[in-house]
Amino acid sequence: MSATAPGPGSDLAPGAPADEPLLRIVDVHKWFAETHVLRGIDLVVNAGEIVALIGPSGSGKSTLLRCINHLEERDAGTVHIDGRLVGFEMQRGVLYRQRERALARERQRMGMVFQHFNLFAHMTAAQNVAYGQYRVLRRSRAEARRTAAELLDRVGLGDKLDAYPAQLSGGQQQRVAIARSLALDPALLLFDEPTSALDAELVGEVLAVIRDLAEQGMTMVIVTHEISFAREVADVVAFMADGRIVERGTAAAVIDSPSHPRTIGFLRRINSA
Ligand SMILES: Nc1ncnc2c1ncn2[C@@H]1O[C@H](COP(=O)(O)OP(=O)(O)OP(=O)(O)O)[C@@H](O)[C@H]1O
Ligand SMILES: [Mg+2]
Repeated sequence: MSATAPGPGSDLAPGAPADEPLLRIVDVHKWFAETHVLRGIDLVVNAGEIVALIGPSGSGKSTLLRCINHLEERDAGTVHIDGRLVGFEMQRGVLYRQRERALARERQRMGMVFQHFNLFAHMTAAQNVAYGQYRVLRRSRAEARRTAAELLDRVGLGDKLDAYPAQLSGGQQQRVAIARSLALDPALLLFDEPTSALDAELVGEVLAVIRDLAEQGMTMVIVTHEISFAREVADVVAFMADGRIVERGTAAAVIDSPSHPRTIGFLRRINSA
């Protein structure tokens, strides 16, 4: 373990206060070499809330998601889930990098669904959904298989348990990927443009699954270019530009009557496309 300087917001006492949000991001910065890609991101997501992140290409949306679940190490700032730091732990006032096993436990609380579904090609749909359950959660194979069947049914793929990814459409593969994330009982789901690799006619079936999850109260952070979908399901829309959240508010406020010139320009370009 290597010590690093304490970041802002790192002085939380052990045990989350009652009003601690599910996810709290405080002044997160990220550089890639000389490029300052995230420039002080603050974001709070309460349990049951849905936050849509929108913004132009290169504004840092994917990097932010990856910093949230520590796929990417941030250079400054803190991420807390249920009041616990992700990626670091505090000992006697000094922040240390979390050991791999502790980090894996925190990461497991956050399911991530990518643009490209990243399924195991040599495993069936059911095996893809079962795998993490016995590898990570140590469920029995029988229980993992049963849960996989239930979850695949929930995303409308009850008849595809034994299909391999190559035998499934993009929309079906993405639904398997969502079921696989749900199988680890996450407290929060992070979506990175879950529909942007899909043909137009397949987008709706994936959005329908996300809409169902929203209705069931799943907490989600969704990076999307589907502005009307964000308008419909999100409680909060945050617009990113140049590594900052430059405008945030209710979906209706940000999308129907944006106030920042960057948001106005972005939405105008999207609408005219
Ligand atoms: N691994 C990396 N190494 C170097 N630069 C990177 C890396 N990942 C991202 N970047 C840079 O960081 C900036 C933000 O990228 P990011 O992928 O987070 O943007 P984005 O908002 O998700 O864009 P898009 O809408 O195109 O997916 C870009 O300038 C990108 O080139
Ligand atoms: Mg991206």
